[in-house]
Amino acid sequence: MPDKVSVPRIRAMRERGERIVCVTAYDAVLGELADTAGVDLILVGDSLGNVLLGFESTVPVTLEHMLHHTRATRAGVRRALLVADLPFGSYQASTEQAVRSAVALMQAGAEAVKLEGDYPEAVAAITRAGIPVMGHLGMTPQSVNSFGGHRVQGRGEAGDSVLAAGQRLEEAGAFGFVLELVPAELASRITANVGIATIGIGAGVGCSGQVQVLHDVLGLSTQNFRHARAFAPGRDVLLQGLRDYAQAVRQEEFPGPENSF
Ligand code: KIV
Repeated sequence: MPDKVSVPRIRAMRERGERIVCVTAYDAVLGELADTAGVDLILVGDSLGNVLLGFESTVPVTLEHMLHHTRATRAGVRRALLVADLPFGSYQASTEQAVRSAVALMQAGAEAVKLEGDYPEAVAAITRAGIPVMGHLGMTPQSVNSFGGHRVQGRGEAGDSVLAAGQRLEEAGAFGFVLELVPAELASRITANVGIATIGIGAGVGCSGQVQVLHDVLGLSTQNFRHARAFAPGRDVLLQGLRDYAQAVRQEEFPGPENSF
């Protein structure tokens, strides 16, 4: 596919200051929808634990969950760069573990992986294995138990350590990193002081791109997050469709002759 989004293209977009559009997807149906809409990067995020599987956090998400959903999403995505999250416990123990887990995600169809936190050694080892890596700094949901909740990170002087971690990730070979729930001023400062893409979520407009959970963008979520916006009334549209279907069945209006053989 000539229009295929690759890691060098993401790097070039960052160079040109062209905004990088990213969204999550966890299966073939919504992956195909996001791909057809022309987003640049589709993330099989471990947020699937909260969004799809009913977990309270991303901590219970396993590598097996991620492999299953990466295979499913791969089936629907053609053009966008497909990135898969390394889940909690799949990369922290050693660089060998990190490479093994990243290889498994690539063999499931990912074109790059993402990991949370200040792990430049893991990023370097995975990069050395020929696998593109993204980092994830700020409020890293796998560490929610250390943060005591989904709280804004990097306020005041703490911002310098987020910047320093970003620079370590860049030096280790990451092609970009997510900045989640950090002050907009800090995200802009980090973006100006690294040479790779910064992808914000709750990090203001000064990042190289933005990532959102697809279910929030489509209005399918029952929760309202300050960092998100519903760009379509997805839940209302789907509910109405299901109610119309139920009514048509009950009134024996469906199936009609055109649906019958
Ligand atoms: O898991 C996820 O969906 C993410 C993004 C929201 C950045 O990591």
